[in-house]
Amino acid sequence: MNEKQLSMRLERVAAYLDSYSKIADIGSDHAYLPCFLSLRTESIQAIAGEINEGPFQAAKKQVSRSGLSERIEVRKGSGLSVIESKDKVEAIAIAGMGGPLIASILEDGKNRLAGVQRLVLQPNIAAHSIRKWLIHNKYYLVNEDILEEDGKIYEILVAEPSKEKRHYTEIELLLGPFLSKRRPVPFKKKWQREVDAWKQVLKELEKGKQSNETVAKRNEMIEKIKMVEEVL
Ligand SMILES: C[S@@+](CC[C@H](N)C(=O)[O-])C[C@H]1O[C@@H](n2cnc3c(N)ncnc32)[C@H](O)[C@@H]1O
Repeated sequence: MNEKQLSMRLERVAAYLDSYSKIADIGSDHAYLPCFLSLRTESIQAIAGEINEGPFQAAKKQVSRSGLSERIEVRKGSGLSVIESKDKVEAIAIAGMGGPLIASILEDGKNRLAGVQRLVLQPNIAAHSIRKWLIHNKYYLVNEDILEEDGKIYEILVAEPSKEKRHYTEIELLLGPFLSKRRPVPFKKKWQREVDAWKQVLKELEKGKQSNETVAKRNEMIEKIKMVEEVL
């Protein structure tokens, strides 16, 4: 397991976990992320959590093949239920799933988050649902990242617990407070694609029969397009 074998996406996720020595990777599949981190840094210990039997077995195999069975424990279970307070987990990664699923894993397991210093979350879609969960649960974003790999665009959200509730505007929740300021190339590409798709939907809505519902939907979409185009 080296940098060449790891996807650029997971390598970027790993970069935000570098300074922690007790890590949990939830939805670990082949346990590539904890194996990569543990091979790179000798002091790292990890828990790889998996709900499904196939990926759970694949994770166990990868850990054993990498000679890391002493340092990575593969546990079967849903979401954060595999973590216990005695594990003293410092940082959690949840990557490669939809934003709503990541948010529901956090919501269902929030009693397991005491003492966790950092969450590194990589949604494949709908990152805004995670941002909403974070602000409602007193986590604040310390960084955001975005990258393109094999034609797909991935966002990474890095959050830490906060004493007080933070506030993000509607557009910050949608686009990300850091990303909408920095506007890197994959960010512009992602949102230009979204705007183009919304414009297409708008055209369809305008062609069809007009009801109160379609008018409301149309106005909402026009507003959203305007908001995003202003940032782009
Ligand atoms: C698409 S894979 C991503 C694997 C890896 N994290 C990555 O980013 O490449 C998602 C994995 O999450 C697992 N998963 C889905 N829901 C889960 C849950 N509630 N708890 C634990 N694992 C879950 C699936 O079985 C699958 O192996």
